[in-house]
Amino acid sequence: MKVAVLNGSPKGEKSVTLQYALYLQKKFPAFEMTFHPVARQIQNLERDEEAFGQVIEDVRAAELVLWAFPLYFLSVSSQFKRFVELIFARRAEDAFRNRYAAAVSTSIHFFDHTAHNYVHALCDDLGMRYLGGYSAGMYDLLSSKERKRFLLFAENFQEAVRRGAPTAIAYPPLSWAPFAYHPGPGQPPVDLGGKRVLILTDATPADANLTAMAQTLRERFPREVDAANLHDVSIAGGCLGCISCGYDNRCVYFGRDGYREFFEARVKTADVIFLAGAMKDRALSSRWKLFFDRSFYNTHQPVLEGKQVGFLISGPLGQNANLREMLTAYTECMGGNLVGFVTDEPGDSALIDARIHEFARTAVRLAGQSYLRPATFLSTAGAKLMRDAIWGPLRFVFLADHRYYQRHGGYDFPQRQYKVRLRNALMTLLMRIPATRKDVQKRTIDEMVKPLRQVVESR
Ligand SMILES: Cc1cc2nc3c(=O)[nH]c(=O)nc-3n(C[C@H](O)[C@H](O)[C@H](O)COP(=O)(O)O)c2cc1C
Repeated sequence: MKVAVLNGSPKGEKSVTLQYALYLQKKFPAFEMTFHPVARQIQNLERDEEAFGQVIEDVRAAELVLWAFPLYFLSVSSQFKRFVELIFARRAEDAFRNRYAAAVSTSIHFFDHTAHNYVHALCDDLGMRYLGGYSAGMYDLLSSKERKRFLLFAENFQEAVRRGAPTAIAYPPLSWAPFAYHPGPGQPPVDLGGKRVLILTDATPADANLTAMAQTLRERFPREVDAANLHDVSIAGGCLGCISCGYDNRCVYFGRDGYREFFEARVKTADVIFLAGAMKDRALSSRWKLFFDRSFYNTHQPVLEGKQVGFLISGPLGQNANLREMLTAYTECMGGNLVGFVTDEPGDSALIDARIHEFARTAVRLAGQSYLRPATFLSTAGAKLMRDAIWGPLRFVFLADHRYYQRHGGYDFPQRQYKVRLRNALMTLLMRIPATRKDVQKRTIDEMVKPLRQVVESR
């Protein structure tokens, strides 16, 4: 069976994820695998259409495409995202159509599901026959139990390809009628109240709606509001995954481009940040992804702490719950407060104007209140996962994070809670007595609400 492996790691041959594909090659002699380090070679593939064409011809000849990628900021790396954009820009979709597809990722399972959803949706958009994804922990291959599980995954996709098994589409095509947004007359600017606002966009001349929406937003504020286009920020390349930043947050690109200066001087100092982007396939652009990935020099520290964050999106975000979840999770996990999303989906310029105005007012108002919505599952679970990883296996590589967690109370364990432990010990014993158990069960609902009622009645 011919398998084309598209490796989404910028580390190429030294990719952890690649080892999983190589393991399959060893265990399944019937697999004729070809390996394409498309993320590592992205600059070459952008420049050299012939080299890109060779990858595409290999995909065309394959019976199965294996998307092999590491998790980068809740999704695939910027380099891999750029490769995806080239597929559409160079009209190479037909090489993928009707090919079977499977995906394997490695990560620490921090939002691995959103990355897999993205790749699955991409396969559906390309008309591929998606057979499933496998989210491996980085070092799963070291465990015989996990190796067995991984081999079963491969055995099953091999068997499905042989049989020509039918597959189902999970992500129906996006339906998006082009609509030209024309801003109406201006409105009085929102008083900044001393807050610093930054509007960041990646709009290109092709993104007319996004450009106009970002302009409308800008005009809702007085002149001194800061605005930047990501294409004007000097960024020499994508994150290399080298983790040099882990020790002291110094990136190998420092001194080679202007990313750090931009991030430190303009992103970190803002109280309110609007991120404006157009949907490119099922995500924002690879330029935006480059921006997120390169901010990894801050490793796992919450760079948006105390900031209000709003997203201005051109495109059918309402049909893309996965992207919405990624952006929500990014904001929440980075300590920011999500103001919301404004899109051009209503297809009505006056309504979009009104929403942008409201967006501007709300963001500044919330900044004045230092409002932070309560954490949802996204950052509650995310923080626990990260805490355990930084305290444990990742500690010596990410010493900067370890120090940060120590200083900022990130290690909120062991949970002493002596009162709770005493009560649990006592009650566990008492619950063994049928009469007490019956009494507790009878009173549970009343007891649960009792302390809350006391607050409602007394404050
Ligand atoms: C910039 C960057 C971002 C990352 N983001 C995530 C993430 O969002 N979730 C996660 O579980 N792991 C994340 N990781 C960890 C990698 O996914 C993991 O180390 C992976 O095994 C690397 O695979 P590779 O060697 O094939 O590149 C990130 C690593 C880097 C360098």
